[in-house]
Amino acid sequence: MSGILETSNVKMTTPICDFVGQYQESDTVRFHMPGHKGMPHLGMEALDITEVKGADALYEADGIIAESEANVGHVFGTARTVYSTEGSSQCVKAMIHLVSGLADGKAIILAARNVHKAFIYGAALADCDVEWLYAADNKSICECVISAKELEDKLLVMKEENRLPVAVYITSPDYLGNVQDIKALADVCHSFGVMLIVDNAHGAYLHFVGDGCHPMDLGADMCCDSAHKTLPVLTGGAYLHISNNAIAKEYLVDNVKNVMAIYGSTSPSYLILQSLDMCNKYLVSGYKVRLEECIEKLDALRAKLDKYVVKTDDLLKITLHMPGVSGQKLADILRSLGGECEFADKDYIVLMITPDSDMSKLDIVQKAVSEAEKLLTGECTSSVEDDYEVHYHKAVMTIREAVFSNHEIIDVTEAEGRICAAPTVSCPPAVPIVISGEKIEASDIEVFKAYGITKVDVVK
Ligand SMILES: Cc1ncc(COP(=O)(O)O)c(C=O)c1O
Repeated sequence: MSGILETSNVKMTTPICDFVGQYQESDTVRFHMPGHKGMPHLGMEALDITEVKGADALYEADGIIAESEANVGHVFGTARTVYSTEGSSQCVKAMIHLVSGLADGKAIILAARNVHKAFIYGAALADCDVEWLYAADNKSICECVISAKELEDKLLVMKEENRLPVAVYITSPDYLGNVQDIKALADVCHSFGVMLIVDNAHGAYLHFVGDGCHPMDLGADMCCDSAHKTLPVLTGGAYLHISNNAIAKEYLVDNVKNVMAIYGSTSPSYLILQSLDMCNKYLVSGYKVRLEECIEKLDALRAKLDKYVVKTDDLLKITLHMPGVSGQKLADILRSLGGECEFADKDYIVLMITPDSDMSKLDIVQKAVSEAEKLLTGECTSSVEDDYEVHYHKAVMTIREAVFSNHEIIDVTEAEGRICAAPTVSCPPAVPIVISGEKIEASDIEVFKAYGITKVDVVK
């Protein structure tokens, strides 16, 4: 892990915040966008500028944005880190585009099935083929934990068939908090000369845990972090990281900006950029200690809720499963006590906490669980372990063909046998139940219903 993190209050520049602050104070007459001209309709407009002289340009950065990105790259110890103002969604598409450019002919990506829908759009736009990895003991569409052995066996088969993927793609942590064994998976990938790319949208904080548990610390070639999910960054702020040891490092480092530009607006938000810039200072100013304290408190809470805690390695999530009480019901109870969860479905409730959370209010989780326990009567029969089955699917057209097909929206009850066009997801977790190009089976319809999905987009 980069030495910069070992001491608190390391000097860190915040060039974007400094520039915008000075611009605001200069009282310059704004003959430029945005149309609010800095007037406080919401309150923050004075800081919301555009690419004026001196403000640099996100996709051609060589000034204050380049300096700020170099700062964050130094913090995470990467070959290059670039900012996204459009979330990991933008970074995921850019990562797929970048690795597709490395293939001779059409790229194949081997992906664990629980991808976020941004992956499907990325695969459609880059027109790559996707082969799926399933985990037989999955208990939810949100998870797909792959062992190094399973990955090795799959890559051996693909090698024998002379169609090795250009990259393996995994999601870690996933929405429920499962963390993959990135080191072991990276070793397997690299023994085949294949890149490992990670959707680490939920795990920016992992670099600051112990000696570093972030994908960049554990051997992944490239990953994205939604900084906004676990760090004090405005919604939309994210990082795309390229490792110092990445396969094709120079190609990735040289091309990442141009590829990010393909998927981004030409008007990136300077509010988000300032927030990412300020976060660099936050990360080197005692964050590691605050994170450790926060994790200790969460461990104590988990111990109290032990009976219902789903054991995962995502240290900033509490995932609960109460047989006999749905996740949605528990979410309703929590809401009645003044708390709002990140995600709830029929089985789980997921709570996300950070060092910025008000720890004095954590006890409402326990109160909600005690209230929920009153609803339990006699023997509980409902259990995710019993009633979830992995749904294997067969594609009948490519993701791109399906996404760009002539399509129509129909009622889910009429969808059996039809081919999925746009991925239909409930958001969160935005994990597709059926992937574009696959036939919808009767069993999928039950899963759609369980996630409250009533309409699906199918090929005409
Ligand atoms: C696993 C995963 N990947 C990617 C994304 C997209 O991230 P963003 O909202 O930053 O675009 C999400 C969003 O929830 C996610 O859960």
